[in-house]
Amino acid sequence: MNRVNGIRVGIAGLGSFSPDKVLTNQDLEKLIDTSDEWIFKRTGIRERRIAADHEDSGKMGAIAAIRALEDAKLAPEDLDLIICATTTPDKPFPTTACHIQDAIGAVNSGGFDMNSACSGFVFAFNTAAQYIGTGMAKRVLVVGTEKLSSILNYKDRNTCILFGDGAGAMVLTSLEEAGRGEYLGGSIQTEGGNDDVLEVPAGGSTRPTDQEVLDAGLDKMVMGGNRVYRFAVNTFVRLVKDALEPYGYEQLGRIVPHQVNQRIIESALEKLDLPVEAAYSNIHKYGNTSAASVPMAFDEAYRGDHLIKGKLACSVAFGAGLSWGHFLVRW
Ligand code: UT7
Repeated sequence: MNRVNGIRVGIAGLGSFSPDKVLTNQDLEKLIDTSDEWIFKRTGIRERRIAADHEDSGKMGAIAAIRALEDAKLAPEDLDLIICATTTPDKPFPTTACHIQDAIGAVNSGGFDMNSACSGFVFAFNTAAQYIGTGMAKRVLVVGTEKLSSILNYKDRNTCILFGDGAGAMVLTSLEEAGRGEYLGGSIQTEGGNDDVLEVPAGGSTRPTDQEVLDAGLDKMVMGGNRVYRFAVNTFVRLVKDALEPYGYEQLGRIVPHQVNQRIIESALEKLDLPVEAAYSNIHKYGNTSAASVPMAFDEAYRGDHLIKGKLACSVAFGAGLSWGHFLVRW
């Protein structure tokens, strides 16, 4: 998928939200056979946030959305589309996008959910850009929000140490209105047939939830971590190389990757011959928040002045499916 040929697209506003409750590595030491040292060394994570019972994906997404709208100096009524990327929707239906629409009062908007696991936000961002580029929508809210704690097994040390909850949002408009963050292109790719690598085995139409499912914990995430690891490093490298090839590395301001695992990020940067500072990372504080990680990191990078005016910012993401993709903007 290449650059949109019609209206030029920009990022008008960014926002994010993370719940108050902190779950540290030391807290996890009390739940499972692990250690702060192992988790930090293998993943770069020190702590992650866990949503309260009343905080679902929709509510967290709505707070991030309001912050992005404030940043864009736009009102909820100005939106004409909401795309919500989530692996942990509030309910099977109605969509979490509908819940966000209602919570923020985006009365003139339509909306839908997109699920592509950890790649979800990047897929939703590229989709939103097509809507604006073709003129079908003028102001699109893209939200990535996850309550991953609701699908984690806190007895499985392979998964529960890695993931956290949170939300991030961006408002995309015409570049003329946004005045920054010009969308230069992106990609959306998948390779099905890899359920055994990373999945929630039951709770859908293949195997609806029953007592047996609950007893066996099949409604929770299972992961072959090593296989995701190799795939993530190789895909990170390929996506960045392909995205920057027409521009050259000297134009790169910052890579804002899916916060998958600090070791994965650093090993990919090493293969790309780029210094650690080339990528923005906040995984030590939030863990891997799946579809929320790119917009949360992007918002922090933006507010902390880590994006460089006039230079390129590239987001890459990869996850279950398998799925992977990127988007490239000039900040
Ligand atoms: O966003 C996409 C979603 N997926 C991911 O982000 C996952 C990407 N993968 C990873 O981040 C890493 O593969 C993990 C962090 C999940 C695991 O790290 P690893 O270096 O691949 O460890 P491993 O699975 O190869 O396990 C190494 C050892 C094993 O022990 P033995 O067999 O060497 O004795 C594990 O049993 O570490 C053990 N281990 C643990 N020890 C303490 C596995 N998990 C833990 C743990 N604490 N939490």
